[in-house]
Amino acid sequence: MKWTNKIATTLEWGDISNKEQKEAVAEKVAQRVKDGDVIGVGSGSTSFLALQAISRKVKNEGLTVTAVPTSQEVSNACSILGIPTSTLLNVRPDWAFDGADEVDGQKNLIKGRGGALFAEKLVMKSSPENYILVDESKFVTRLGEKFAVPIEVDPRAIHLVEEELLKYKAREITQRMAVSKDGPVITEAGNLILDVRFEEIGSGFEKEIKSIPGVIETGLFMGYNVEILSI
Ligand code: A5P
Repeated sequence: MKWTNKIATTLEWGDISNKEQKEAVAEKVAQRVKDGDVIGVGSGSTSFLALQAISRKVKNEGLTVTAVPTSQEVSNACSILGIPTSTLLNVRPDWAFDGADEVDGQKNLIKGRGGALFAEKLVMKSSPENYILVDESKFVTRLGEKFAVPIEVDPRAIHLVEEELLKYKAREITQRMAVSKDGPVITEAGNLILDVRFEEIGSGFEKEIKSIPGVIETGLFMGYNVEILSI
């Protein structure tokens, strides 16, 4: 039997900025899908559009693919679109795609506006090929130009991490607050997110910040094996 309820069977996202550009790049990545692929699926609105484009191709061509989602919302979307899912415990992605908040000239990224940075990094590092789908608003000359760096922190370490971040010339540290819930954003792994603006983001920064006890992950993706797809 099939559920006929409306809430969990309807694809919804809300307003999507630069939607036409994101749709064009979503179509580009969908062209790469082959029968049998295990695909890591990033989070955010661009990934959401790409997943829909992939689902259309899969249906039109009668392909079978498996998705490895990086968030509950992507997992839900896969379920609605009829795309089977698995986890990194069971499969390794053949390739993966994701969006980004910023991309610099060396293909370094800031990610995590949507709060899925931890799972996104796990999938990206596990995947031999990664496509980053961006509209033109995402290109920057230096990381941190537009976005703060999201840092996922164990709730017990919030004081310690704040104190340590100041040693890295953090000039603004804010705790990410929920919009439709009281209190802070709680990630899928039960952690908090600090959005941090630094004076400068050095080349070893990702590893240095990650070495602070209590930091679960950062939204800095520096030196990863990625191909940037844009229109
Ligand atoms: C999710 O946590 C993020 O890393 C997104 O991939 C990133 O914010 C890009 O989002 P959009 O595709 O919505 O711009």
